Amino acid sequence: MTFEEKDIIYPPVHPGTDRTFIRFYSDEPDLNSIFYTGDKDSQPQRIFVTDTAVGSLPATRSFIDFFRGEDFSHPKIEAGFVGKRGKDVLVILGAGEPFKTIESVLTIIKAALDNNGQRSAVFVGIGGGVITGMTAFAASIFKRGAHCELVPTTLLSMVDAAVGGKTGCDFDAYKNMIGSFFPAQKIHIIPSFIQSLPQHEYRSGMAEVVKTALLYSPELFEKLEKYPQILEDRKNPLVEEAIKICVNAKATVVEQDLTEKNIRMQLNLGHTFGHALETMAGLGVVTHGDGVAWGMARAASLAERIGLCTKEYSERVKMCLASFGWEIEPVHPAMKEKYKNDEEIASLLFNAMKKDKKNSSSKVRFVLQENVGETVITEVEEKEVMEVLK
Ligand SMILES: NC(=O)c1ccc[n+]([C@@H]2O[C@H](COP(=O)([O-])OP(=O)(O)OC[C@H]3O[C@@H](n4cnc5c(N)ncnc54)[C@H](O)[C@@H]3O)[C@@H](O)[C@H]2O)c1
Repeated sequence: MTFEEKDIIYPPVHPGTDRTFIRFYSDEPDLNSIFYTGDKDSQPQRIFVTDTAVGSLPATRSFIDFFRGEDFSHPKIEAGFVGKRGKDVLVILGAGEPFKTIESVLTIIKAALDNNGQRSAVFVGIGGGVITGMTAFAASIFKRGAHCELVPTTLLSMVDAAVGGKTGCDFDAYKNMIGSFFPAQKIHIIPSFIQSLPQHEYRSGMAEVVKTALLYSPELFEKLEKYPQILEDRKNPLVEEAIKICVNAKATVVEQDLTEKNIRMQLNLGHTFGHALETMAGLGVVTHGDGVAWGMARAASLAERIGLCTKEYSERVKMCLASFGWEIEPVHPAMKEKYKNDEEIASLLFNAMKKDKKNSSSKVRFVLQENVGETVITEVEEKEVMEVLK
């Protein structure tokens, strides 16, 4: 067969997605003052998206109430609610990973369409990683690309999920199978939002903090090693310091490699094991952060097993994770509860890892560490992986 070829070269498609302004706020959350100051006629239409839990917080209530109009007296914030404030729209979705579905994304799109949303509209996700990821995804596909701003309200979404333009939802029991790269134009980080987080969600976010410290900040890792009590001490200034260090570290990485062709892959430390655990335990059973923390312990054992790091380093990482209360044993209790046999558990996890979108051959690619700040990406044989899973 013969053929002729022609390339078409384009300028970047989405104006406004080539840079992200990140603003750190030091006071209590006040969404009205962020979004409703200045000349309202010159504002584009906003499609605000949140979930029932975030919409019920005292910190967001005065903002949400503006959209409730006739429903103002209705005490409950319900999933499926769509309200208006002038030309702006608010959509409330169900809370948590089980709602990270294509149906939720379509609910956002439908609310925008029903309210005459244009491509100039700004989709604003106010919530944890589930809401920020789906809102940004909806923005990326709405009329071939609208605009996006994010207000991350969990520790995890502040330090990780909202930064870096990965958007999407789960599909068919597999995490993040549908999505796009679509950086937000603005990210509003209000650390005081974390004060209302349930403890397990705060701990989940802290796992990404420890991950980022292991990857990019030996100083922060040392501070966390010395002070695992940070888990009971959210008002400690170290929390805000850690948020800033993590956001800056992630920003530096995604600036160089937005679409995860090379160094961004490092951010998946602990994630290959962690995603497999989240998937096989049943989405939502193990929090993302708890999965990543267990995954980092497994990654440390795997690095030690294949001779990449010393036993001392592997032990140091696991001791730190254990001091935060994370599971570091090869067989996670959530798997023990669901499946009987350790061999079966190891096989199920390995197969889930192979299916993960980041793997193309029968080997599995892992992010492993030689030391704090010294990270390598390497493919590992099934036999070695299975050994650290049982
Ligand atoms: N895009 C990325 O680069 C990236 C990175 C890491 C994680 N993620 C994704 O992020 C998701 C996890 O995010 P998450 O941990 O924020 O979970 P989440 O969004 O489900 O939020 C956890 C729970 O906390 C509630 N909540 C949120 N803010 C609150 C607050 N201030 N006070 C009280 N409750 C609050 C939510 O309603 C939800 O019930 C996963 O789906 C994961 O795949 C994406």
